[in-house]
Amino acid sequence: MAVLPFRVSEAVAGGNPVFARTGAIAHPLGRMHYHFLMKPPPRLRTAAVHAGESPDPATGASAPNLVMSSTFVTRGATGFSAHDLDDASGFLYTRWSNPTVAQLEAKLCALEGAEACLCFGSGMAAAAGVLLSLLSAGDHIVMSDTNYAGVAELGRDTLPRLGIEVSFADTSDPANVEAALRPNTKLIWLETPANPIVRLTDLEAIARIAAAQPGVRVAVDSTFATPVATRPLELGAHYVMHSLTKYIGGHGDAVGGAVLGSREDIAALRVEAAVHYGGVLSPFNAWLIMRGAATLPIRMKAHEENALAVARFLEDHPRVTRVVYPGLASHPQHELARRQMANFSGMLTFRSADGAELAERMARELRVIHYAVSLGHHRSLVFWMDTPSLMESSFRLEGAQLESYRAYAGDGIFRMSVGLEDAGDLCADLARVLAAPE
Ligand SMILES: Cc1ncc(COP(=O)(O)O)c(C=O)c1O
Repeated sequence: MAVLPFRVSEAVAGGNPVFARTGAIAHPLGRMHYHFLMKPPPRLRTAAVHAGESPDPATGASAPNLVMSSTFVTRGATGFSAHDLDDASGFLYTRWSNPTVAQLEAKLCALEGAEACLCFGSGMAAAAGVLLSLLSAGDHIVMSDTNYAGVAELGRDTLPRLGIEVSFADTSDPANVEAALRPNTKLIWLETPANPIVRLTDLEAIARIAAAQPGVRVAVDSTFATPVATRPLELGAHYVMHSLTKYIGGHGDAVGGAVLGSREDIAALRVEAAVHYGGVLSPFNAWLIMRGAATLPIRMKAHEENALAVARFLEDHPRVTRVVYPGLASHPQHELARRQMANFSGMLTFRSADGAELAERMARELRVIHYAVSLGHHRSLVFWMDTPSLMESSFRLEGAQLESYRAYAGDGIFRMSVGLEDAGDLCADLARVLAAPE
């Protein structure tokens, strides 16, 4: 039998009799995943399909098994504390690690070019895991002034309550980040493209700024980009975070999150954020997300192609006053997009003079596109995001920062996640609701 070079069991199981017997993959704690052992490394589409997976030696099953067990029979007496975990530890308890979740983690490592990965029960659990485990009272963080609303509110409400100093910066200009650094800065938190306005941040430039001050780490929420577009670790970031609920899962049926980075950083995160905080990913969701992740590269190609078609249609529509999509020459940072994004993804925004009223019509009258929050699904989704109410609830920007936000979003935007339907049907659906009411 021709065996693919992706036999995680062979590559990393070592002498562990539990893994050898079950064909399960090695404990993910700090291990280098198989793809580092392959020469030459697999190309992205191959890695997406095969990484983290190997036929079950017991049954020959080609698809990954779903291991729902919460506990595991151990090889011998073992410690009961997370601090007793090491590379040789087998699976002990699913909050610490689980074979199915570990398979997804190995796949994500291959996609992101990371040494190690830790999955969480949601993107927010992943973000909170990084922020709370890296920062202590008296530390300072520079955070993007526009990012996913949950993270924005955590940065404005929770972190200061814990005695953590937070500066919000318009990270689209690296000089703003440099100016915000303090001697006690521990972390720079970026999101590119930023939710909801699709504004970009130059990761390489900011990683250079961070490297000039010892002790400053860089974390990037790369949910909108996906590893198909951008690989932040290769650009100098220390952590990359994803909401797996979005493109990586891709089908709108499983909530999850992930953080990737160096073996040492992720091992520390596992002890604090997974074992102690406990917001881990269900193996069932890992199994669903793994199935989605296998087709990520081809889906992203289709998302990009559709988004470009919809963006061009909207740009030409008389009722649309502005379209923002990184793949359009009209995006204010199109040059950066071309340099930093190998795929422009499927997220765009557009404006119309009567946004709130149009939103009402969309909610009632769209037939193909769902009027709903979230993004990155195979179904197209659109949602109205009113600037004054977002300023009040999540972002609370003033002065130049508010001006920069408004340059992208005006009084409000329709955030559209362009799905995988036929682009002609999507444009026809939009054309119908954009037509002036009779
Ligand atoms: C960019 C970004 N980061 C993080 C999150 C949070 O992810 P989750 O909903 O999986 O908790 C979201 C959710 O919309 C998001 O868009």
